[in-house]
Amino acid sequence: MLTTEINIVEGIKDKYAAKFGPETLDTARIFRSPGRINLIGEHTDYNNGFVLPASVDKAVYFIVSPREDNQVILYAADLDETYSFTLDDLSKPAQSWAHYQIGIVDQLHKNGYKIGGFQTTFGGNVPVGAGLSSSAALECCLLFALNEIFELGLDRFSIVKMSQKAENEYVGVQCGIMDQFASAFGKEESVIRLDCRSLEYQYFPFPMQDYLLVLCDTSVKHSLASSEYNTRRLECEKGTAILKKYNPAIESLRDASPELVEAHKDELGEVVYRRCKFMTEEIERVQVACDLLVDGNLADFGKKMYETHDGLQHEYEVSCPELDFLVDQTRGNGSVLGARMMGGGFGGCTINLVENSAVDDFEESMKKAYLDQYHIDLPCYRVKITDGTGEIK
Ligand code: GLA
Repeated sequence: MLTTEINIVEGIKDKYAAKFGPETLDTARIFRSPGRINLIGEHTDYNNGFVLPASVDKAVYFIVSPREDNQVILYAADLDETYSFTLDDLSKPAQSWAHYQIGIVDQLHKNGYKIGGFQTTFGGNVPVGAGLSSSAALECCLLFALNEIFELGLDRFSIVKMSQKAENEYVGVQCGIMDQFASAFGKEESVIRLDCRSLEYQYFPFPMQDYLLVLCDTSVKHSLASSEYNTRRLECEKGTAILKKYNPAIESLRDASPELVEAHKDELGEVVYRRCKFMTEEIERVQVACDLLVDGNLADFGKKMYETHDGLQHEYEVSCPELDFLVDQTRGNGSVLGARMMGGGFGGCTINLVENSAVDDFEESMKKAYLDQYHIDLPCYRVKITDGTGEIK
């Protein structure tokens, strides 16, 4: 374990002991689920396309022990807030942070899995609202923990799918499968190419000797995020329905091509056309980008990242001025191979592929520019790719 990780876990353990009594630590187990980055392939997951995520060294940790009764006590260490409920009452509380955990219990119920009561203290260092998917980490971590503690026999795929459903059905965000998959299946120093249609996946080593991945956190989250996310899904479905008339085999935009989209531009209409154009191009781009990665051609890989950003900004329209500003700052900087907004959009982080030796200067100039423009201190995170969800022994 890294020193920061040890400190975080020790801190949560202390809080667990203070809350539930030190003697209950004997029966408690500790679990970890990381946040994720995504190198390329944005908004492609719910269009059955490809994504290229990885799990990173920012994670959530749950200390969990079973109880004799049917009570669940959730203690959010970082917020110093508690929410308790019984297993037969899964109604939605005002505290939105508890929705992810109750959503998991709800999924277990719906799928016929029996668990007993439990108590947990959780916390971590995944920045919330920064596009690193702290929500998927919460879901995967708790489900993984309950699966171990109550010996439910779920495999990782089931954990991923049920965590996604918890978010879709209980939290109410129509997210795709990328975040939960990355959090559960991440592997040290590797990125995962996931085919979101077949769920086939492959690990690619990501060389981190000469280049680093640096996240620049706009520190903004525009309220449009979830409504526009659901709107994009509908726009893509609309495009699919129109294209399907010309080729019945088209079930999603994964099955369409940029040429087909171009051929039906007028019928698609201006907005849906732009969404479909970006999406079909992005799905192809991930394939090309993976080949570049295998060839060790990071320079051209970086160019693909810029292409993705441009498409997300102008055609898919999920960026925002702060994200565009940060990406624009890097253009023409010889030490930056690629930069783009990452995740759902409307705030959160940009992901930057930066020459190792230039990272200090890069961060300094980005921070200065952002402070001048937006009067916000820009958090920068140098991420390491770590293993996915697991128990800490
Ligand atoms: C959010 C969703 C993911 C994915 C990304 C965009 O993180 O949770 O499923 O759609 O946005 O790529």
